[in-house]
Amino acid sequence: MREILVAGNWKMNGSTAAGEALVDGIIAGVPEGSGFRLLVCPPFPYLASIATKISGSKVSLGAQNVSEHASGAFTGETASAMLKDVGCEYVIVGHSERRAIYGETSEQVAAKFQAAQAAGLIPILCVGETLDEREAGTTQNVIDEQLNAVLNAAGVDVFAAAIIAYEPVWAIGTGKTATPEEAQDVHRHIRARVAERNSDLAEKVQILYGGSMKGDNAPGLLSMPDIDGGLIGGASLKANDFLAIAEAAAQI
Ligand code: PGA
Repeated sequence: MREILVAGNWKMNGSTAAGEALVDGIIAGVPEGSGFRLLVCPPFPYLASIATKISGSKVSLGAQNVSEHASGAFTGETASAMLKDVGCEYVIVGHSERRAIYGETSEQVAAKFQAAQAAGLIPILCVGETLDEREAGTTQNVIDEQLNAVLNAAGVDVFAAAIIAYEPVWAIGTGKTATPEEAQDVHRHIRARVAERNSDLAEKVQILYGGSMKGDNAPGLLSMPDIDGGLIGGASLKANDFLAIAEAAAQI
């Protein structure tokens, strides 16, 4: 059985006090049981203080973005080793907001993925199609292009220490969730693509779903055979909303 990961992407929200209160609320309500893990990804300025807060708890720490470079004259950027240094274990790469708003290419995302792994972080590689792409019937091609950028640059073995997140862009922050069947179709496709190169590894790699996941739709999504957790935006900003998804994960 693959472990379930419930990951909160706080995006650019909160403050020192709000972040600490949120994480206190999460830690206080972590469901009993095993087979799942909780992760929070706060904005950069709060990583170090949240790292102290979660120490010894069942909650792990991740960042939302990282530079593809190791160090040097890159004003405003943050290196993987710095994230590791302040207590991160995970980092999200290639979120659709980074791709769409900041123009990150799949090649750049692959470079970030490799830089993160080189520093000992677990990258969470986001892939997903826009509504236009889905309606044009090109969902699988889009996913393949985003996935192949990493597979071709780094090989399949890197997925032994990485996570994939399928996030249909049309479902992010819209309240419109993919149905469990729609999501499962794409998750199955992603796992099959990995299996073409390494079938053992494909069975092990965690594939998260992201896009308006909430306490009420989480049980259906998480019960699908190829959905191994969630990457949660809006519902990760309130402890009770996030814990409702954690509860669903604990029941699987
Ligand atoms: P959402 O965001 O849960 O608010 O749709 C998900 C994400 O962007 O990771």
